[in-house]
Amino acid sequence: MAGIRIRGYGYAHGDKVVTNDDLAAMVDTSDAWIREKTGIVSRHFAEHRSNADMAQEAAEGALRTAGLTAEDIDLLLICTFTPDLATPSLACQVAGRLGTKPDILAMDVNGACSGFVYGCTAAAAMLVAGSARRALVIGSEKISPMMDMNDRRTCILFADGAGALVMEYDENGLFESVTGCLPDDQILGCPRFDPAIYMSGQEVYRFATSQVPEAIETLLAKVGMDREDIDYYVCHQANLRIIDSVARRVGVDRKRFYTNIETTGNTSAASVAICLSEMMEKGLLQPGMHVVCAGFGAGLTWGAMLMRI
Ligand code: COA
Repeated sequence: MAGIRIRGYGYAHGDKVVTNDDLAAMVDTSDAWIREKTGIVSRHFAEHRSNADMAQEAAEGALRTAGLTAEDIDLLLICTFTPDLATPSLACQVAGRLGTKPDILAMDVNGACSGFVYGCTAAAAMLVAGSARRALVIGSEKISPMMDMNDRRTCILFADGAGALVMEYDENGLFESVTGCLPDDQILGCPRFDPAIYMSGQEVYRFATSQVPEAIETLLAKVGMDREDIDYYVCHQANLRIIDSVARRVGVDRKRFYTNIETTGNTSAASVAICLSEMMEKGLLQPGMHVVCAGFGAGLTWGAMLMRI
Protein backbone atom coordinates (compact mmCIF):
# COMPACT_ATOMS: atom_id res chain seq x y z
CA MET A 1 0.00 0.00 0.00
CA ALA A 2 1.39 3.34 -1.04
CA GLY A 3 1.10 6.68 0.75
CA ILE A 4 -0.43 8.89 -1.91
CA ARG A 5 -2.88 11.74 -1.71
CA ILE A 6 -4.81 13.73 -4.29
CA ARG A 7 -3.86 17.37 -4.14
CA GLY A 8 -5.65 18.92 -7.12
CA TYR A 9 -8.29 18.13 -9.73
CA GLY A 10 -9.64 19.56 -12.97
CA TYR A 11 -11.69 18.61 -16.01
CA ALA A 12 -12.76 19.78 -19.44
CA HIS A 13 -15.37 18.81 -22.02
CA GLY A 14 -15.69 18.94 -25.77
CA ASP A 15 -17.19 22.19 -27.05
CA LYS A 16 -20.39 20.76 -28.59
CA VAL A 17 -23.26 19.13 -26.71
CA VAL A 18 -24.72 16.28 -28.79
CA THR A 19 -28.09 14.93 -27.70
CA ASN A 20 -29.56 11.54 -28.52
CA ASP A 21 -32.00 13.32 -30.83
CA ASP A 22 -29.05 14.88 -32.67
CA LEU A 23 -27.68 11.37 -33.27
CA ALA A 24 -31.12 10.08 -34.28
CA ALA A 25 -31.09 12.70 -37.05
CA MET A 26 -27.89 11.10 -38.42
CA VAL A 27 -28.34 7.37 -37.86
CA ASP A 28 -31.21 4.91 -37.34
CA THR A 29 -31.59 5.16 -33.57
CA SER A 30 -33.77 6.92 -31.00
CA ASP A 31 -33.51 8.81 -27.74
CA ALA A 32 -35.62 6.10 -26.06
CA TRP A 33 -33.34 3.23 -27.24
CA ILE A 34 -30.12 4.96 -26.19
CA ARG A 35 -31.51 5.95 -22.77
CA GLU A 36 -32.89 2.50 -22.06
CA LYS A 37 -29.81 0.56 -23.24
CA THR A 38 -27.04 2.88 -21.97
CA GLY A 39 -28.40 5.62 -19.70
CA ILE A 40 -26.84 8.28 -21.93
CA VAL A 41 -28.92 11.40 -22.63
CA SER A 42 -26.27 13.69 -24.12
CA ARG A 43 -22.50 13.92 -24.54
CA HIS A 44 -19.83 16.40 -25.65
CA PHE A 45 -17.89 16.24 -28.91
CA ALA A 46 -14.74 18.29 -29.40
CA GLU A 47 -15.60 19.87 -32.72
CA HIS A 48 -13.26 22.84 -32.45
CA ARG A 49 -10.92 21.59 -29.70
CA SER A 50 -7.95 19.26 -29.93
CA ASN A 51 -7.21 16.57 -27.37
CA ALA A 52 -4.33 18.80 -26.17
CA ASP A 53 -6.77 21.72 -25.65
CA MET A 54 -8.93 19.62 -23.30
CA ALA A 55 -5.95 18.03 -21.52
CA GLN A 56 -4.43 21.46 -20.97
CA GLU A 57 -7.65 22.89 -19.49
CA ALA A 58 -8.01 19.92 -17.14
CA ALA A 59 -4.34 20.18 -16.15
CA GLU A 60 -4.59 23.91 -15.45
CA GLY A 61 -7.62 23.25 -13.21
CA ALA A 62 -5.69 20.58 -11.32
CA LEU A 63 -2.69 22.86 -10.79
CA ARG A 64 -4.96 25.73 -9.69
CA THR A 65 -6.90 23.64 -7.14
CA ALA A 66 -3.59 22.21 -5.89
CA GLY A 67 -2.15 25.70 -5.46
CA LEU A 68 0.84 24.69 -7.60
CA THR A 69 2.49 25.79 -10.81
CA ALA A 70 3.61 23.62 -13.72
CA GLU A 71 7.18 23.85 -12.43
CA ASP A 72 6.18 21.89 -9.32
CA ILE A 73 5.38 18.80 -11.43
CA ASP A 74 8.06 16.26 -12.28
CA LEU A 75 5.93 13.45 -13.74
CA LEU A 76 3.28 14.05 -16.41
CA LEU A 77 1.33 11.03 -17.58
CA ILE A 78 -1.51 11.34 -20.07
CA CYS A 79 -3.77 8.33 -20.35
CA THR A 80 -5.17 8.30 -23.88
CA PHE A 81 -5.64 6.19 -26.98
CA THR A 82 -6.49 9.23 -29.10
CA PRO A 83 -3.42 11.53 -29.02
CA ASP A 84 -3.44 14.36 -31.56
CA LEU A 85 -0.17 13.06 -33.03
CA ALA A 86 1.46 9.62 -33.08
CA THR A 87 4.55 11.42 -31.85
CA PRO A 88 5.43 13.65 -30.02
CA SER A 89 3.18 12.30 -27.32
CA LEU A 90 0.20 14.23 -26.02
CA ALA A 91 2.09 14.49 -22.71
CA CYS A 92 5.00 16.27 -24.44
CA GLN A 93 2.58 18.64 -26.19
CA VAL A 94 0.82 19.48 -22.93
CA ALA A 95 4.13 19.84 -21.04
CA GLY A 96 5.10 22.49 -23.58
CA ARG A 97 1.80 24.34 -23.20
CA LEU A 98 1.96 24.27 -19.39
CA GLY A 99 5.62 25.25 -19.21
CA THR A 100 6.88 22.37 -17.08
CA LYS A 101 10.54 22.15 -16.09
CA PRO A 102 12.93 20.55 -18.58
CA ASP A 103 13.82 17.48 -16.48
CA ILE A 104 10.22 16.21 -16.31
CA LEU A 105 9.25 12.67 -17.34
CA ALA A 106 6.34 13.18 -19.76
CA MET A 107 4.71 10.29 -21.60
CA ASP A 108 1.40 8.80 -22.72
CA VAL A 109 -0.14 5.65 -21.26
CA ASN A 110 -2.52 3.63 -23.45
CA GLY A 111 -4.68 1.37 -21.32
CA ALA A 112 -7.83 2.24 -23.30
CA CYS A 113 -10.81 2.66 -20.95
CA SER A 114 -8.74 1.28 -18.03
CA GLY A 115 -6.14 3.93 -18.83
CA PHE A 116 -6.68 6.16 -15.84
CA VAL A 117 -6.34 3.26 -13.39
CA TYR A 118 -3.20 2.14 -15.26
CA GLY A 119 -1.78 5.69 -15.21
CA CYS A 120 -2.46 6.32 -11.53
CA THR A 121 -0.93 2.93 -10.70
CA ALA A 122 2.27 3.82 -12.57
CA ALA A 123 2.39 7.31 -11.01
CA ALA A 124 1.86 5.96 -7.48
CA ALA A 125 4.70 3.47 -7.93
CA MET A 126 7.08 6.23 -9.06
CA LEU A 127 6.04 8.58 -6.26
CA VAL A 128 6.61 5.90 -3.64
CA ALA A 129 9.94 4.94 -5.22
CA GLY A 130 11.00 8.58 -4.91
CA SER A 131 11.67 9.04 -8.62
CA ALA A 132 9.04 11.80 -8.71
CA ARG A 133 7.71 14.16 -6.05
CA ARG A 134 4.51 15.30 -7.72
CA ALA A 135 2.64 13.73 -10.60
CA LEU A 136 0.05 15.22 -12.91
CA VAL A 137 -2.04 12.34 -14.24
CA ILE A 138 -4.50 13.22 -16.98
CA GLY A 139 -7.09 11.08 -18.73
CA SER A 140 -7.93 12.79 -22.01
CA GLU A 141 -9.67 11.59 -25.16
CA LYS A 142 -10.91 12.96 -28.44
CA ILE A 143 -12.79 9.89 -29.66
CA SER A 144 -15.40 11.51 -31.91
CA PRO A 145 -13.18 11.45 -35.05
CA MET A 146 -12.47 7.73 -34.44
CA MET A 147 -16.14 6.72 -34.68
CA ASP A 148 -18.07 5.58 -37.72
CA MET A 149 -21.07 7.89 -37.48
CA ASN A 150 -23.04 5.40 -39.59
CA ASP A 151 -22.52 2.60 -37.06
CA ARG A 152 -25.37 2.95 -34.59
CA ARG A 153 -23.92 0.25 -32.32
CA THR A 154 -20.89 2.40 -31.43
CA CYS A 155 -21.46 6.07 -32.36
CA ILE A 156 -24.06 6.51 -29.61
CA LEU A 157 -21.64 5.53 -26.85
CA PHE A 158 -18.42 7.50 -27.06
CA ALA A 159 -17.56 11.14 -26.38
CA ASP A 160 -14.71 13.58 -25.75
CA GLY A 161 -13.31 15.08 -22.55
CA ALA A 162 -10.46 15.24 -20.06
CA GLY A 163 -9.90 14.92 -16.30
CA ALA A 164 -6.74 15.46 -14.28
CA LEU A 165 -5.39 14.83 -10.79
CA VAL A 166 -2.26 16.06 -9.05
CA MET A 167 -0.94 13.18 -6.93
CA GLU A 168 1.83 13.42 -4.37
CA TYR A 169 3.51 11.25 -1.78
CA ASP A 170 2.02 11.53 1.73
CA GLU A 171 2.68 8.95 4.42
CA ASN A 172 -0.90 9.34 5.68
CA GLY A 173 -2.32 8.77 2.21
CA LEU A 174 -3.27 5.46 0.69
CA PHE A 175 -3.20 3.96 -2.78
CA GLU A 176 -3.55 0.37 -3.90
CA SER A 177 -4.59 -1.19 -7.17
CA VAL A 178 -5.07 -4.41 -9.09
CA THR A 179 -4.70 -4.45 -12.87
CA GLY A 180 -4.78 -6.96 -15.68
CA CYS A 181 -4.88 -7.61 -19.40
CA LEU A 182 -6.60 -10.49 -21.17
CA PRO A 183 -5.23 -10.03 -24.69
CA ASP A 184 -7.92 -9.97 -27.39
CA ASP A 185 -8.07 -7.56 -30.34
CA GLN A 186 -11.32 -8.90 -31.82
CA ILE A 187 -13.87 -7.86 -29.19
CA LEU A 188 -13.00 -4.16 -29.01
CA GLY A 189 -10.49 -2.02 -30.86
CA CYS A 190 -9.66 0.78 -33.27
CA PRO A 191 -7.28 0.55 -36.25
CA ARG A 192 -4.32 2.92 -36.49
CA PHE A 193 -5.23 4.25 -39.96
CA ASP A 194 -8.67 5.05 -41.37
CA PRO A 195 -9.87 4.54 -37.83
CA ALA A 196 -13.29 3.46 -36.70
CA ILE A 197 -13.96 1.78 -33.38
CA TYR A 198 -15.27 -1.77 -33.67
CA MET A 199 -16.95 -3.54 -30.80
CA SER A 200 -18.89 -6.65 -29.94
CA GLY A 201 -21.21 -4.97 -27.44
CA GLN A 202 -22.52 -8.10 -25.77
CA GLU A 203 -19.05 -9.58 -25.24
CA VAL A 204 -17.82 -6.30 -23.74
CA TYR A 205 -20.90 -6.25 -21.53
CA ARG A 206 -20.22 -9.79 -20.27
CA PHE A 207 -16.52 -9.04 -19.70
CA ALA A 208 -17.25 -5.85 -17.74
CA THR A 209 -20.00 -7.23 -15.54
CA SER A 210 -17.88 -10.22 -14.47
CA GLN A 211 -14.34 -8.77 -14.41
CA VAL A 212 -15.07 -5.47 -12.64
CA PRO A 213 -16.83 -6.94 -9.55
CA GLU A 214 -14.05 -9.54 -9.31
CA ALA A 215 -11.39 -6.80 -9.52
CA ILE A 216 -13.09 -4.79 -6.76
CA GLU A 217 -13.35 -7.85 -4.53
CA THR A 218 -9.68 -8.74 -5.15
CA LEU A 219 -8.64 -5.17 -4.36
CA LEU A 220 -10.62 -5.06 -1.11
CA ALA A 221 -9.18 -8.41 -0.04
CA LYS A 222 -5.67 -7.13 -0.83
CA VAL A 223 -6.05 -4.13 1.50
CA GLY A 224 -8.12 -5.98 4.12
CA MET A 225 -11.11 -3.66 3.81
CA ASP A 226 -14.80 -4.39 3.61
CA ARG A 227 -17.02 -3.07 0.79
CA GLU A 228 -18.86 -1.02 3.44
CA ASP A 229 -15.59 0.76 4.38
CA ILE A 230 -15.62 2.44 0.96
CA ASP A 231 -17.44 5.78 0.82
CA TYR A 232 -17.79 5.95 -2.97
CA TYR A 233 -17.26 3.75 -5.99
CA VAL A 234 -16.51 5.12 -9.45
CA CYS A 235 -16.84 2.74 -12.36
CA HIS A 236 -15.72 3.60 -15.91
CA GLN A 237 -18.73 5.34 -17.45
CA ALA A 238 -19.54 3.00 -20.33
CA ASN A 239 -23.13 2.01 -19.65
CA LEU A 240 -25.49 2.66 -16.73
CA ARG A 241 -26.70 -0.94 -16.85
CA ILE A 242 -23.12 -2.18 -16.41
CA ILE A 243 -22.74 0.08 -13.36
CA ASP A 244 -26.08 -1.16 -11.92
CA SER A 245 -24.94 -4.75 -12.41
CA VAL A 246 -21.51 -4.13 -10.82
CA ALA A 247 -23.16 -2.52 -7.77
CA ARG A 248 -25.51 -5.51 -7.42
CA ARG A 249 -22.70 -8.05 -7.76
CA VAL A 250 -20.41 -6.24 -5.31
CA GLY A 251 -23.40 -5.95 -2.95
CA VAL A 252 -23.22 -2.19 -2.46
CA ASP A 253 -26.05 0.36 -2.48
CA ARG A 254 -26.15 1.75 -6.04
CA LYS A 255 -26.27 5.30 -4.57
CA ARG A 256 -22.61 4.91 -3.59
CA PHE A 257 -21.66 4.49 -7.27
CA TYR A 258 -21.14 8.00 -8.67
CA THR A 259 -22.21 8.46 -12.30
CA ASN A 260 -22.15 11.21 -14.90
CA ILE A 261 -22.60 9.08 -18.02
CA GLU A 262 -26.05 10.62 -18.47
CA THR A 263 -24.53 13.88 -19.75
CA THR A 264 -20.94 12.83 -20.47
CA GLY A 265 -21.13 9.53 -22.39
CA ASN A 266 -18.15 7.20 -22.54
CA THR A 267 -14.95 9.26 -22.56
CA SER A 268 -12.68 6.20 -22.18
CA ALA A 269 -9.56 7.01 -20.11
CA ALA A 270 -11.02 10.38 -19.14
CA SER A 271 -14.21 9.04 -17.55
CA VAL A 272 -12.95 8.11 -14.07
CA ALA A 273 -10.80 11.27 -13.94
CA ILE A 274 -13.76 13.51 -14.80
CA CYS A 275 -15.95 11.76 -12.21
CA LEU A 276 -13.35 12.16 -9.45
CA SER A 277 -12.86 15.83 -10.34
CA GLU A 278 -16.60 16.52 -10.30
CA MET A 279 -16.90 14.77 -6.94
CA MET A 280 -14.09 16.86 -5.49
CA GLU A 281 -15.65 20.03 -6.87
CA LYS A 282 -19.05 19.13 -5.36
CA GLY A 283 -17.44 18.39 -2.00
CA LEU A 284 -18.55 14.74 -2.09
CA LEU A 285 -15.00 13.54 -1.41
CA GLN A 286 -13.66 14.81 1.92
CA PRO A 287 -10.27 14.15 3.55
CA GLY A 288 -10.09 10.67 5.04
CA MET A 289 -12.74 9.21 2.75
CA HIS A 290 -12.03 6.11 0.66
CA VAL A 291 -12.95 5.80 -3.00
CA VAL A 292 -12.60 2.76 -5.25
CA CYS A 293 -12.40 3.33 -9.02
CA ALA A 294 -12.62 0.62 -11.68
CA GLY A 295 -11.95 0.56 -15.39
CA PHE A 296 -12.32 -1.92 -18.25
CA GLY A 297 -11.82 -1.69 -21.96
CA ALA A 298 -9.88 -2.60 -25.09
CA GLY A 299 -6.94 -4.86 -24.52
CA LEU A 300 -8.90 -6.33 -22.90
CA THR A 301 -7.66 -4.35 -19.95
CA TRP A 302 -9.14 -4.05 -16.49
CA GLY A 303 -8.16 -2.47 -13.22
CA ALA A 304 -9.40 -1.19 -9.87
CA MET A 305 -7.74 1.29 -7.52
CA LEU A 306 -8.34 2.46 -3.97
CA MET A 307 -7.49 6.01 -2.88
CA ARG A 308 -7.76 7.69 0.50
CA ILE A 309 -8.61 11.34 -0.05
N1 COA B 1 -30.35 2.20 -31.87
C1 COA B 1 -31.33 1.34 -32.15
N2 COA B 1 -31.12 0.02 -32.28
C2 COA B 1 -29.86 -0.42 -32.13
C3 COA B 1 -28.79 0.44 -31.83
C4 COA B 1 -29.08 1.79 -31.71
N3 COA B 1 -28.13 2.71 -31.43
N4 COA B 1 -27.67 -0.30 -31.73
C5 COA B 1 -28.00 -1.57 -31.96
N5 COA B 1 -29.34 -1.66 -32.21
C6 COA B 1 -30.12 -2.84 -32.49
C7 COA B 1 -29.33 -3.94 -33.12
O1 COA B 1 -29.17 -3.74 -34.52
C8 COA B 1 -30.17 -5.13 -32.79
O2 COA B 1 -31.24 -5.20 -33.69
P1 COA B 1 -31.65 -6.61 -34.35
O3 COA B 1 -32.05 -7.48 -33.20
O4 COA B 1 -32.77 -6.23 -35.25
O5 COA B 1 -30.43 -7.08 -35.05
C9 COA B 1 -30.75 -4.79 -31.43
O6 COA B 1 -30.63 -3.37 -31.28
C10 COA B 1 -30.03 -5.46 -30.28
O7 COA B 1 -28.63 -5.29 -30.48
P2 COA B 1 -27.61 -5.76 -29.41
O8 COA B 1 -26.21 -5.43 -29.90
O9 COA B 1 -27.91 -7.18 -29.02
O10 COA B 1 -27.99 -4.78 -28.21
P3 COA B 1 -27.57 -4.86 -26.70
O11 COA B 1 -28.75 -5.13 -25.88
O12 COA B 1 -26.37 -5.74 -26.49
O13 COA B 1 -27.11 -3.36 -26.43
C11 COA B 1 -25.06 -2.11 -26.24
C12 COA B 1 -26.03 -2.81 -27.19
C13 COA B 1 -23.88 -1.60 -27.06
C14 COA B 1 -25.78 -0.93 -25.60
C15 COA B 1 -24.61 -3.09 -25.14
O14 COA B 1 -24.18 -4.31 -25.74
C16 COA B 1 -23.48 -2.54 -24.35
O15 COA B 1 -23.61 -1.52 -23.70
N6 COA B 1 -22.32 -3.23 -24.33
C17 COA B 1 -21.14 -2.73 -23.65
C18 COA B 1 -20.48 -1.71 -24.52
C19 COA B 1 -19.41 -0.95 -23.80
O16 COA B 1 -19.44 -0.81 -22.62
N7 COA B 1 -18.44 -0.47 -24.57
C20 COA B 1 -17.39 0.34 -24.08
C21 COA B 1 -16.30 -0.49 -23.53
S1 COA B 1 -15.06 0.51 -22.83
